Amino acid sequence: MSANQKMRLGIIGGGLMGREAASAFGRWFVLEDFPVQVELVAVCDLQEKLLDWFKKVPTVKLLTKDHNELLKSPEVDVVYVAVPHNLHEKLYLDVLNAGKDLLAEKPFGIDLAAAKTIRDAAKKSGRFVRCSSEFPFLPGAQRVFQAAQSGQFGKLLEIHSCFWHSSDLDPTKAINWKRQNKFCGEIGVMGDLGMHVVHVPFRLGWNPKRVFAQLQKIYTERPDGKGGMAACDTWDNALLHTDVSINGQEVPMRLEMKRMAPGETNTWWIEVLGTDGGLRYSTKEPKTLWTFQRGKEQIWQKTDLGHQMAFPTITGGIFEAGFPDCFLQMWAAYAAERAGALGNRMGCVTPEESVASHELFAAALESHKNKTVVSV
Ligand SMILES: NC(=O)c1ccc[n+]([C@@H]2O[C@H](COP(=O)([O-])OP(=O)(O)OC[C@H]3O[C@@H](n4cnc5c(N)ncnc54)[C@H](O)[C@@H]3O)[C@@H](O)[C@H]2O)c1
Repeated sequence: MSANQKMRLGIIGGGLMGREAASAFGRWFVLEDFPVQVELVAVCDLQEKLLDWFKKVPTVKLLTKDHNELLKSPEVDVVYVAVPHNLHEKLYLDVLNAGKDLLAEKPFGIDLAAAKTIRDAAKKSGRFVRCSSEFPFLPGAQRVFQAAQSGQFGKLLEIHSCFWHSSDLDPTKAINWKRQNKFCGEIGVMGDLGMHVVHVPFRLGWNPKRVFAQLQKIYTERPDGKGGMAACDTWDNALLHTDVSINGQEVPMRLEMKRMAPGETNTWWIEVLGTDGGLRYSTKEPKTLWTFQRGKEQIWQKTDLGHQMAFPTITGGIFEAGFPDCFLQMWAAYAAERAGALGNRMGCVTPEESVASHELFAAALESHKNKTVVSV
């Protein structure tokens, strides 16, 4: 890899996340001394109005409704695919067969079988493949990750990793593909929010040995947006009570994925508690890191964090980080790892970790169905 390599991107699926990715590439120059340049050169979506939107991006040369046309372009090195889950397997395999590298969106296939097929194809192809999960790149999340790696908490008591939404509490919210099993997958909310809660634990080697799952479907139909009602058959909330083995001890780890958590717009949070210390970070208070110290007195203290990013940017050190910032950092991690320049920083979710997440979610479905504890 050259010291200043260029990574030329294509996007398949220019909806919510496709445009978010374009925004990250558009301000790539904020990254300081970064070894890779990016250029968004091609976009594919089925919707004319979205292709029109991408005309704002001056580097885009190809706008198409046919993903095969994008994949034929010799100017595309890496493809970001952000489409409904039922299309993941087909489109990810098409990207690999075209000889391109891939940043896949979660959940990396609609189910476990699809995830394994994609993982195997990725391995065979030799292409660089990772999956999306951006919250762990926020400064507070990085602090929790580093502290957990250092083992400074003493004997671990418990771990929580959660991602909560709330707009589905409104029964008049119209249905979309994420609320229908045939597009979203049987795993429902776990497919939508699950990768975000397992990325940090899995990277720390905290893989559940067994799971007891409580899954809930709250509203079974929603307005179809055309004056009628449509069946809403996905799991809304999932509580996964798991055991992980850490330093020879079994530790309870609770993973929560909720579409209906009252008042929680997009709250990602993680907490690790031990006998000697603990840390808690939530995007609810995006600057705040809570630290527990056990001394003569027991203290929870809060620290205001600034813009301490794994990949430094020009943004002032006291300025708080938000969603577009961690999304840019995730892409920087992808580009750096692809170029062999990740160093000791945290990387994006691997295909193996993606398959492990599906193994957990499949076990959770079984656990809920039979009301039993299931080995993972
Ligand atoms: N990382 C995150 O934080 C995050 C957040 C939301 C969604 N996602 C994931 O991103 C993916 C997309 O979700 P979204 O919210 O952007 O959905 P979206 O519905 O906003 O966008 C999907 C786009 O794909 C397009 N599309 C559908 N079929 C296509 C095809 N054959 N070829 C080209 N384009 C096609 C649609 O027209 C649409 O514009 C999903 O896997 C979802 O789970 C990730």
